[in-house]
Amino acid sequence: MSAAELDLRRLIDSHQPGHALAREFYSSPEIFERDMERILLRHWFCAGHVGSVPRPGNFLVVDLGLESVIIVRTQEGQIKALLNVCRHRGSRICTERSGKAAAGLLTCPYHAWSYDLNGRLVAARQMGASFDRAQFALKGLQVRVVEGLIFTTFAEQPLSFDSTEAAMSQSLRVHGWAEAQVAHREMYSIKANWKLAIENYMECYHCQPAHPEYSKHHALARPFAQTRHLDRPARLRAEAMGIFIADVDQYGLAAHPGSESVSVFRSPLLEPTAEALSGARPAPLMGDFSGFDGNSTYVDIGPLSDFLAYVDHGVIYRFIPRGALQTDMEVIWLVHGAAREGEDFDVESLTALWKTTSLQDKAIVEWNQAGVNSRFFKPGPYSDQESYARRFTEWYLSELNGQDSIPGAEAGPLASHQA
Ligand code: FES
Ligand SMILES: [Fe+2]
Repeated sequence: MSAAELDLRRLIDSHQPGHALAREFYSSPEIFERDMERILLRHWFCAGHVGSVPRPGNFLVVDLGLESVIIVRTQEGQIKALLNVCRHRGSRICTERSGKAAAGLLTCPYHAWSYDLNGRLVAARQMGASFDRAQFALKGLQVRVVEGLIFTTFAEQPLSFDSTEAAMSQSLRVHGWAEAQVAHREMYSIKANWKLAIENYMECYHCQPAHPEYSKHHALARPFAQTRHLDRPARLRAEAMGIFIADVDQYGLAAHPGSESVSVFRSPLLEPTAEALSGARPAPLMGDFSGFDGNSTYVDIGPLSDFLAYVDHGVIYRFIPRGALQTDMEVIWLVHGAAREGEDFDVESLTALWKTTSLQDKAIVEWNQAGVNSRFFKPGPYSDQESYARRFTEWYLSELNGQDSIPGAEAGPLASHQA
């Protein structure tokens, strides 16, 4: 065992259950490298929505750590994921966050090697008669498209996605996400370790002090005992519309070895009107909804991809770890595929709540990182309202240990999370 491994073993062994992680987990470049190898490159993550690549040649660039992937729609209409690393001397090929491949080719800006939309090298200047282009295709990554959401992974032998896909389809098909369009995308740069950003997303203990706007509308901001009475009426309203979305919890459980984790739950809204969330002009209802049922649907996949569905719009949260002290967070708003901007919905009022909430989150997570950087920081205990954050740290440590599930974890209700 190397000195670094011994150190890591000592840190894992000294973790106090029910408490936040030690400072090193949130700041060490070596542990960030370990996070990448053991966790982030192994799992599936959401790269975006098919509405961002509607036509052949449309591409998106998505990053993770130092890695970069081109998500492109081929001439045949398939979605492909190609490593954004040229097979000549390694330059990035696509340098914009999104765009359209000129003449149906992905051309490297350095020496102009050109690849078709399937990643095959089709042109390389002055490489000699013996040069075999067929040996220099771009590396392809596995892709799954579920309810309009594009997932990819760097793993050669990925975690099974079948039960994940089934749970996602059961919850998001009702919301009509496969037919949605992307109304807006926003990238937030957070100077903090990815685990602090995720823990923050996973708990709503902070919502009342940090998110007054969100807390006006969402039951999750309150202790469960205060809002429990809203659960049944909200479920009955949904059932009256023929809406049934089952709660699912396959997050780090031994019952699902080798599978990507997924959790789904519905939570009532305190002000159950579309206007409260989307401004004076709510967007058209999506999917199977014939009215406002007073619920919101939360779906989490793997460590980095989270989704929130309302009756008239959806919100995708993509967390993008960059380095030990840097995480990007992309927020993507979805509306009905046939809705017309300016006539059927207004981007500003549609995005106002989650823009405000995301900026508040960026600030509190950065303050959290600043405090955790102190050599005197001692991890404190999680509250009842932070049970998902607690579960996340336990899951994280078990993954870092090379385990496939949280030792001793069982399916069961957890107190509120999110925002
Ligand atoms: S590095 Fe891409 S063409 Fe040379
Ligand atoms: Fe938050």
